[in-house]
Amino acid sequence: MFFSIRVIKNLFLDFFKNKNHKVIPSSSLIPSDGTSLFTTAGVQQFIPFILSPEEPPFLRACSSQICFRSDDIEEIGDNFHLTFFEMLGNWSFGDYFKKEAISFAFEFLTKVLQIPQEKLWITYFKGEKGIPEDRETLKIWQNLGIPQNKILPFGAKDNFWGPIGKEGPCGPSTEIHFEINPTHCNLGKECLPNCSCGRFVEIWNLVFMQYNKKNDGHKFQYLPLPRRVVDTGMGLERIATAIQGKTCVFETDLFFQIINEIERLTQKKYSEDKISFRILADHIRSIVFLLAEGIFPSNVEQGYVLRRLLRRSMRFEKKLQGESSFDLLIPLANKVIEIYLPDFPMLSSKQEFILTQIQKEEEKFENSLNDGLKYLNKLLNKKKEKFISGSEAFSIYQTYGLPFEVIEDFAKENNFTVSRDGFEEEFRKHQEISRRGAEKKFGGHGLDRIENQKSQQEKIKITKLHTATHLLHSALRKILGEEVRQMGSDINEERLRFDFSFKRKLTQDEIQKIEDLVNQKIKENLKIKKEKMFLEDALKSGALAFFKERYPREVYVYSIYNPKTKEVFSKEVCNGPHMESTGDLGIFKIKKEEAVGAGIRRIRAILE
Ligand code: ALA
Repeated sequence: MFFSIRVIKNLFLDFFKNKNHKVIPSSSLIPSDGTSLFTTAGVQQFIPFILSPEEPPFLRACSSQICFRSDDIEEIGDNFHLTFFEMLGNWSFGDYFKKEAISFAFEFLTKVLQIPQEKLWITYFKGEKGIPEDRETLKIWQNLGIPQNKILPFGAKDNFWGPIGKEGPCGPSTEIHFEINPTHCNLGKECLPNCSCGRFVEIWNLVFMQYNKKNDGHKFQYLPLPRRVVDTGMGLERIATAIQGKTCVFETDLFFQIINEIERLTQKKYSEDKISFRILADHIRSIVFLLAEGIFPSNVEQGYVLRRLLRRSMRFEKKLQGESSFDLLIPLANKVIEIYLPDFPMLSSKQEFILTQIQKEEEKFENSLNDGLKYLNKLLNKKKEKFISGSEAFSIYQTYGLPFEVIEDFAKENNFTVSRDGFEEEFRKHQEISRRGAEKKFGGHGLDRIENQKSQQEKIKITKLHTATHLLHSALRKILGEEVRQMGSDINEERLRFDFSFKRKLTQDEIQKIEDLVNQKIKENLKIKKEKMFLEDALKSGALAFFKERYPREVYVYSIYNPKTKEVFSKEVCNGPHMESTGDLGIFKIKKEEAVGAGIRRIRAILE
């Protein structure tokens, strides 16, 4: 019997619904609590009530969650990794534990999906870091009839899951692997689950959460969770690969339609250049779903990841199509929308935004890509050793906007290597230099000579807009309510752009009030104070911070306050630079207010 992706998803949700699980819709790809950039697992939307001492609203749940894993960008092209994927999962919040969780999984795979038991191999936690071997899990699998030689102990790297950021719920796991291809690789008897040769694919991870990893200010501790939790995750495309008799995720039913579309558009065969086809197929799906969340390509946070995917796709588009044409991504995005529309009806209203953003990025990057690749080609021809240093790669990124992955792909194709560590080191250094430069210049140490292409005036303008952004942020929360959350910010020497969560269009009256409040605070000539503190203390003191886990342990907090009354108007974790007082910012004017995604508004404003 053929099980399509859609059928597998429905069978899974029905199976757990019949076992009294509440079917929960997928949450957004961008977590609402800001604890990480992307949703990387089904459990993420449940973390708040896993940690809460209160009774959860339901004891059993299941879902098919859309996930995005930016860490896997480099792996794309192999048989099983994807940046965007759907994760099937079931949960018990203090209800059933290991025995039922394992029995449910076994029943679903062998009875519902009719997988022969011989194809299944199991791994479990062998004990490490002072946490004992999970013998209970071993026994449960033995009792289900899995032979001893197919239940293998592994360490924390493979069989201990979480937390998602630096802290949070975590615990030992047991993984179910499927033998896709019965031939051993040249490791012979050593070729076992977790071998990368393609013989096995890990299909389902069952996590038994019993710890809350916490930093007490000095070191990490594993504290007991208020309630033990079962958290499972099964990659939808992976299980489909296994039961559709394929050897790679890209050959499953829905994905192969994208591959076919690339063949049709390029007049090339998948077999001619599998890697380029796979990377394009993976990335275009991610691009569509990230844009559907209202993310813009940019140089920071989620937008930076999206931009890397878009630019890398353009590079492969060029590789498949030749020098001049950039006409693949738009029809491909249309195809992705058509394929996934039945499951994700919201794609229809996002279609125009998705296509417009792809087109804009293509226009922006087209010339730089051509120039950058020409330069890279020359550089490789000149070199004696087949190695590109981190600083060379970083300088190409800075000059031409070529993301690291594009440089690396090109290098690999020419049998060169390139230093990722070196690149990242340069990236960090560069950020540090700009930070220090700005601090030195605007932090009260005098206007020394600083090597920087931007003129002094432009720098001051940007600093003023930066401070105005904090005033705007605070004014928005005061006028519209505390639920306003920063979603993004971009400043150039002409204007500020601020994205924030809010459900509807602002009225003219609200815009006026916000503008007036900012101008009033400029007139009051408030002072700006910078303090260094631990992130935890900063948050406790009420400073606003978003994307918590991406801040270092010690952060800077900028407060804008009235020196006479000591009343604080704005307090945010931020790296600056900022002015020392608001008095000479000028007149603040909101030029535009618009929607940029579901529940996300954007304000453009200037200082005159
Ligand atoms: N949260 C677990 C995972 O992502 C199930 O594998």
